[in-house]
Amino acid sequence: MHEVVEKILFSEDQLRERIKGLAAEITRDYKGRRPLMVAILKGSVLFFSDLIRELDFNLEIDFMSISSYGNGVKSSGEVKMIKDLDGKIEGKDVIIVEDIVDSGYTMKYLTQLLSARNPASIKICTLLDKPSRREAEISVDYKGFEVGNEFVVGYGLDYAGSYRNLPYIGILKRSVYEK
Ligand code: IMP
Ligand code: MG
Repeated sequence: MHEVVEKILFSEDQLRERIKGLAAEITRDYKGRRPLMVAILKGSVLFFSDLIRELDFNLEIDFMSISSYGNGVKSSGEVKMIKDLDGKIEGKDVIIVEDIVDSGYTMKYLTQLLSARNPASIKICTLLDKPSRREAEISVDYKGFEVGNEFVVGYGLDYAGSYRNLPYIGILKRSVYEK
């Protein structure tokens, strides 16, 4: 275990199993369609690449980069777009793939922004959900796991840009950010 990790919450095996289950759910709903899967950079890249390999239907992918954080552990509430989608989404079934929904401000901003472009539908798929911290009203359509009010890292999730490459998801030691 990495020295900044207090406890492993989800091991590689647990992640793999849950993602298979999620992929089966999404495959049931989208079989025969050709949705656009949108990865929200950078946190969702590991989840995204594992998820889409398990999806048994034709699909397209695109990437968007949104930032709401700065370098701390709490959302600033201020959301900005760093990179937009490459293609148009009008008439498409869009599935947003996110690492974690916390306050919900990022997903609220994003669904409002993308809805205005007239897609056929928009759904949200997140690996992790922290419902106890929700401030903006949004509904998550597919979720991997719920987590409590703890800051987690690994499997794409970072603290100040680090620890994204850990193969598991762990709780970050408070001593790392409470100085
Ligand atoms: P929201 O706008 O507050 O829902 O924030 C969502 C974003 O905050 C996520 O995409 C993550 O980048 C980041 N975030 C929230 N909680 C955590 C965490 O526990 N670990 C790492 N990143 C987090
Ligand atoms: Mg993120």
